[in-house]
Amino acid sequence: MLVLFRKTPILGALLAQVVALPIVAAATAPLSTMVERLPLIGLALLLQGLVAAGITRVLGLARWWLVIAFLFPLAMGTALLVGNLPAWPFGLAFLLLALVFSNTTRGRIPLYLTNTETASVLRDVMKDREATRMLDLGCGLGGVVRALDGEGRTARGVENAPAVYLTARLLSAVTGRGEIRRGDLWKTDVAQEDMVYAFLSPAPMAALWQKLKTEMKPGSLFVSNSFPVPDVEPDEIWELQDARKTKLFFYPISAAVTPME
Ligand SMILES: C[S@@+](CC[C@H](N)C(=O)[O-])C[C@H]1O[C@@H](n2cnc3c(N)ncnc32)[C@H](O)[C@@H]1O
Repeated sequence: MLVLFRKTPILGALLAQVVALPIVAAATAPLSTMVERLPLIGLALLLQGLVAAGITRVLGLARWWLVIAFLFPLAMGTALLVGNLPAWPFGLAFLLLALVFSNTTRGRIPLYLTNTETASVLRDVMKDREATRMLDLGCGLGGVVRALDGEGRTARGVENAPAVYLTARLLSAVTGRGEIRRGDLWKTDVAQEDMVYAFLSPAPMAALWQKLKTEMKPGSLFVSNSFPVPDVEPDEIWELQDARKTKLFFYPISAAVTPME
């Protein structure tokens, strides 16, 4: 059951709110004669958020669901209390969130971006290796692709979140740097790349490695930002001197795959 919630976290988040409701109702009911209506509602919404957030942790959902679970009742309660709000801003906000994060609930790979220091290190890696082709799997807004493209290098990115892809495509067209495709990283051809880069999450790393080690050409390089491949010894780990102390894990494709002790 817990596996179902980890795979489809939105179900877990909904369950957390439903389970929290009777708990909060039971906890706040005795206060109904002692506390004014408005402060009582505020307290109930706060408790609802806290209990639901706690339940998302018990269900093993990622940390950002904790924040969503906490804020959701407060946002809904505020909207209801203020009253007479038009429905369209909520619809628009939902649509935007769906266009940006529709793939996050399925693939458990959220959007966060590689910083410029890391992109610059990746460019140096390509220069040192005389690599001319790179691919960013799940390229987000395409910052890495644009930073690495040029001076004889071809950088491409693949992205499947609609709004994120469109933004990356637009930025790439405006700057004339890199090539952005809409697509699923799992179905993307990696055979011609000298370097494949990914900044995803712990969830897909084992399966991703299975794909890359069989499909990438010998002598090419896979670099993962922050998330190592489980049970596979990287050839090198670089800790960068940027603010978030980015770690890059290097997996040369020709290297023998050594299981960890
Ligand atoms: C953490 S972001 C990294 C963005 C970019 N690579 C960077 O470093 O700035 C991961 C991206 O992968 C995208 N993504 C997740 N699953 C994907 C899939 N199956 N196919 C293509 N892109 C995917 C997400 O939408 C998100 O934009």
